[in-house]
Amino acid sequence: MALTLDGSMDFIRSRTAVTRVPLVPEIELYQATEMTELWRATTADLEGWDDSPFWAFPWAGGQALARHVLDHPELVAGLRVADFGTGSGLVAIAAWMAGASQVVAYDVDPFCEGAVRLNSSRNGAEVEFVAHSPLGEAFLSVDVVLAGDVFYEKQMAERFLVWGRALAGRGVRVLAGDPGRLYSPQEGVRDRGAHDVPTSTAIEARLVMKTWILELLPE
Ligand SMILES: C[S@@+](CC[C@H](N)C(=O)[O-])C[C@H]1O[C@@H](n2cnc3c(N)ncnc32)[C@H](O)[C@@H]1O
Repeated sequence: MALTLDGSMDFIRSRTAVTRVPLVPEIELYQATEMTELWRATTADLEGWDDSPFWAFPWAGGQALARHVLDHPELVAGLRVADFGTGSGLVAIAAWMAGASQVVAYDVDPFCEGAVRLNSSRNGAEVEFVAHSPLGEAFLSVDVVLAGDVFYEKQMAERFLVWGRALAGRGVRVLAGDPGRLYSPQEGVRDRGAHDVPTSTAIEARLVMKTWILELLPE
């Protein structure tokens, strides 16, 4: 089955529910909740669609970073922002609401385009989606890179840190929201504070995750 944007948006609308983000109630997202079909879906149900629907949940890192950006709009207001590993588009939407002049959301999962499209529209945000990884692109024309919850996988975390530190060396502000995942950076970051993020036992071992806002320092 060929994946089309309309097909993925129909899939999302019919299997998720529009729900407020716990730590960011200003934003509503199409999410998997206990009341939705996606919550109970098996691998067979998802075959041909998206067997790893990261976009269906607001991850702890993204919730904390979205909260931080909305509470500190001076970080993005009037600036060009990239949201790396956007998933649902949560952080990108927060950046737009906080006054960013341009927001580009990157994710390697093409299914995210439908989620970002629906979620942006629901919240009145303008977000451009790009279905590829910008890792390694030396001259991304942005002022700020945001990344919610991207330290859970070794290779991605390592590549993101190398790339992010190089961008930081060229004056780009790089902020990550991180609930202490396995491959979180242990040094070379400035701790900008933490949030207790309500989450769900469908995706996490705990109902509340302490989540840090980390700013990458240049090498
Ligand atoms: C845990 S989810 C976080 C989603 C969102 N930022 C949030 O916090 O709710 C991580 C996302 O990173 C994306 N991702 C993984 N590797 C990537 C890469 N190399 N480039 C861009 N996105 C990537 C995944 O597809 C997934 O949507």
